[in-house]
Amino acid sequence: MLSTAPIIAGISFPFCLMNAAGALSTSRDELLALAHSESGAIVTKSITLSSVLDPGARCGRENPGVRYYLDLLPEVRRAGKPIVASVAGFTVEDCIHIAQALATAGADLIEINCNDPHVHTHLAPFASPQRFSEIVSALRRALPVPLAVKLPSSLPLPLVDVAAVLLDAGVPAVIAHNTSADSGLTQAQAILQASGGRLEVIGVGGVSSGTEAVAVLRSGVKAIQIGSAVVREGVGVFARLKRELADSLELQG
Ligand SMILES: Cc1cc2nc3c(=O)[nH]c(=O)nc-3n(C[C@H](O)[C@H](O)[C@H](O)COP(=O)(O)O)c2cc1C
Repeated sequence: MLSTAPIIAGISFPFCLMNAAGALSTSRDELLALAHSESGAIVTKSITLSSVLDPGARCGRENPGVRYYLDLLPEVRRAGKPIVASVAGFTVEDCIHIAQALATAGADLIEINCNDPHVHTHLAPFASPQRFSEIVSALRRALPVPLAVKLPSSLPLPLVDVAAVLLDAGVPAVIAHNTSADSGLTQAQAILQASGGRLEVIGVGGVSSGTEAVAVLRSGVKAIQIGSAVVREGVGVFARLKRELADSLELQG
């Protein structure tokens, strides 16, 4: 049964659509706008240990650094919605340090960004199943809140191995792409299948209408992160998507 207000990793989300990391989610004003929008959560820009000042980069790691968010999260939290803090670290120690600080400041779920090319080069999460296991197990043990891993759209390890590592480490959720992986399935569907439905999957990418969202949710994905449509339309996009989703569900029955 499709729920538009899912529970993921034990956290109640008031709505199943939320912004994707980095989509109008870097500054205080942007995060507060998300907090007061119809988005089902507030997903931060990927946060690094120190500030990264590279305004020319697209989909990069430009953000003011972890300290900025430690002061901000308690304020954003007052809106009463789950906060998903995206973390981009170049070493396991950096990831743990950033994630622990953000969890203490009020993040409900930590999203580890394994999507970023710089993270790939330095952290090398997919060098082998052992390396991936080492990283997610260390993070899982060190954090007081649940962990979710954001996958890149293509990766060198089979998704069955990725799913097995996440399940073994006790990681409850994964952010996977709504684009094709193997055998006609999207990556999100493929990882859901590879985990026998035991991983909770948040789909990301390619959704900008209520009809598209319903199609993704019907495949078993619990929630969807929206990137480009948020950047294009602003946070008002969530009110539109909420209406379209309700209309689409009513029509389809
Ligand atoms: C302006 C912008 C900034 C982004 N920054 C990040 C980021 O900091 N961390 C991350 O994991 N993904 C980042 N992304 C990728 C999005 O989270 C998302 O995976 C991607 O846009 C696909 O979703 P879409 O098809 O709805 O745009 C960014 C995307 C955009 C458009």
